[in-house]
Amino acid sequence: MDSPRVKHTKQTQYLLETLARHTTSFSERPPKSILRNQIPGDVVLVTGTTGSFGCNILAQLCLDPHVKKIYALNRDSSREGLKERQVQALKLRGVLDDCLRYPKYQLVEADLGKPLLGLGVELHTEIQNSVTHIIHNAWTVNLASPLEKFEDCLQGLRNLIDLALKSPQIAIPKMLFVSTMAAVRKYPGLVVPEEHLPDPSVSIGSGYSEAKWIAEQMLHVASRELGCLPGGDNALVPWIPTYEAAGILCTMCHSKEPVLHLENPNPIQWNEMVEVCAKELNVPLIPFDDWLSLLRNYAADARIPKTEQMKRNPAVSLVPYLSGMDFTTYISQGHAGLDTTKAVQAVPKLKEVRISKEMVTKWVKGWREVGFLPRKEALGVLHSKL
Ligand SMILES: NC(=O)c1ccc[n+]([C@@H]2O[C@H](COP(=O)([O-])OP(=O)(O)OC[C@H]3O[C@@H](n4cnc5c(N)ncnc54)[C@H](OP(=O)(O)O)[C@@H]3O)[C@@H](O)[C@H]2O)c1
Repeated sequence: MDSPRVKHTKQTQYLLETLARHTTSFSERPPKSILRNQIPGDVVLVTGTTGSFGCNILAQLCLDPHVKKIYALNRDSSREGLKERQVQALKLRGVLDDCLRYPKYQLVEADLGKPLLGLGVELHTEIQNSVTHIIHNAWTVNLASPLEKFEDCLQGLRNLIDLALKSPQIAIPKMLFVSTMAAVRKYPGLVVPEEHLPDPSVSIGSGYSEAKWIAEQMLHVASRELGCLPGGDNALVPWIPTYEAAGILCTMCHSKEPVLHLENPNPIQWNEMVEVCAKELNVPLIPFDDWLSLLRNYAADARIPKTEQMKRNPAVSLVPYLSGMDFTTYISQGHAGLDTTKAVQAVPKLKEVRISKEMVTKWVKGWREVGFLPRKEALGVLHSKL
């Protein structure tokens, strides 16, 4: 399914197909019954710490008092031994002392592209159970290689995403991916916006840039998968679509009644409505309390500026309002006790107002069109194979 604005070439089509292949059947989250809160202190998995940037990331993590443990995953180095290689690399970048002062990192020999990252079950489970942040920095930095040569890198990213998804913690580990400007090398403007760029043509021209674009999209798809909506409630929603509400209000001008309630006398059940949204958005429904708890954790994350939080997840503005209120009350407030007898007499059309599933589908479509939600077309090709 192509975006109407994007004209695909053979290569952009190939990128989308590669992306689709790497975004099928993401791991499921563990059952809610075993999810638990994070133990205080960050546990960071970082990859590629033998490289130039990785050494500096490792040093900064060692100095960070929020970080209590670091798993530094690097590929096999049978000749010199990983420890020696890491020490030499840190020395070369002048950051060895920082790492020695706070020796909280554990070097792990891994093969990111293999199942379980090439680790033993025990160590893999230990990492999966404890990690709160993943910084994925390891990558083949070779601008001349074709896209096919980056398969192991893409598979490595995919394995890390699955590890994050299978975390038994309520809050899924945060993933930071070190990308590159090259991923948007063909962006047709002077300033590249800080947002998701779904058109593969921005990256075309080198396997390195194309693979990084695919990796960014994989994370985007996975993060959409991680979204969720509050469900499991049969509260009645007494909303009226604004177009109809405006029409009814105008008719009310002709009534002699001093007070009229403009409310839907045929409320829809929350579940019925939200199930349509969840299906359209391809996100799961989770109990309201769990949803609110995830939202609270997100809003409390001091590392993401408030303005950015609002941009990425406008629902954070509801946190203070929803706290202390049960969901049924919130959703059906206004409905309780609002008599509409006189309003129906004044505007008989009010009796006919109903929110249908088709209407909800149209709302989601409208939210996509105005940019409030990501465009389905751009990601349809990915989801179609999930
Ligand atoms: N260099 C730049 O100008 C630049 C600019 C923008 C973004 N970046 C990105 O920044 C990150 C770090 O780059 P860097 O400049 O620090 O590169 P670097 O010095 O070459 O380090 C790369 C790191 O990744 C590891 N690595 C390379 N290929 C791997 C593979 N196939 N599987 C597992 N590990 C692999 C390397 O391990 P070994 O030690 O075993 O080789 C090393 O630890 C990369 O993601 C890169 O794309 C770099």
